Amino acid sequence: MNHPPVITIDGPSGVGKGTMATMLANTLGWHFLDSGALYRLLALKVLRVGAGLVPVQLVDIAKNLDIYFKDTRVYLDNEDVTEAIRQEEVGLAASQTSAFPEVRQALLERQRAFAQAPGLVTDGRDMGSVVFPNADVKFYLDASPEIRAKRREQQLKASGISVKFGDLLEDMQKRDRQDKSRLVAPLVVPQGAIEIDTGLLSKEQVFEKILSEVKSRLRSNGGV
Ligand code: DC
Repeated sequence: MNHPPVITIDGPSGVGKGTMATMLANTLGWHFLDSGALYRLLALKVLRVGAGLVPVQLVDIAKNLDIYFKDTRVYLDNEDVTEAIRQEEVGLAASQTSAFPEVRQALLERQRAFAQAPGLVTDGRDMGSVVFPNADVKFYLDASPEIRAKRREQQLKASGISVKFGDLLEDMQKRDRQDKSRLVAPLVVPQGAIEIDTGLLSKEQVFEKILSEVKSRLRSNGGV
């Protein structure tokens, strides 16, 4: 392989792709990109400056986003916004701003720049379909909106954020509709992706499946 290997994990909101991608990156010792965090950072900035949804303004903000990732923390304008970007309001705003093709284009190269040796594990909505169409291994995780809303509720609770399950389910379904119906880079099963229904599986079982697929694919590609 003459390019750093890339593994993509796509799927709808709350399906556990972030958890899987982090575990996989840690196990392999590779870089990790949470592409949703980029869209959330942009949305948080837009909400803060009250920019509205005018593409030219959004692109300007996207191109000049002052962000960095350090350990497991995320910074915007030198402020730790790790928890702030996880608010449902920010997720919904991210789903809206990310529907603009110009915005996606503005963030494309930033995402591709994360593909560095020894390899990259990345998760999102279009990582295997648009950002890294030649990825070495692609996964698509899915589960019902009810199961995903339940998991998100537990995740938010653990970070001290309290929300109503009904609101969460409604937001999740709204976000699914937005992410799947947008014209550019909608959420789809990328060509060649390994599909896993995580609904009835534990975290450990999903990870086991992912890791065994990765090992056999990378071995047959002559990689790791
Ligand atoms: O994965 P997430 O919930 O953190 O993503 C927040 C929103 O960002 C999601 O609703 C749609 C958008 N997004 C995207 O359009 N493309 C990606 N690769 C990742 C996220």
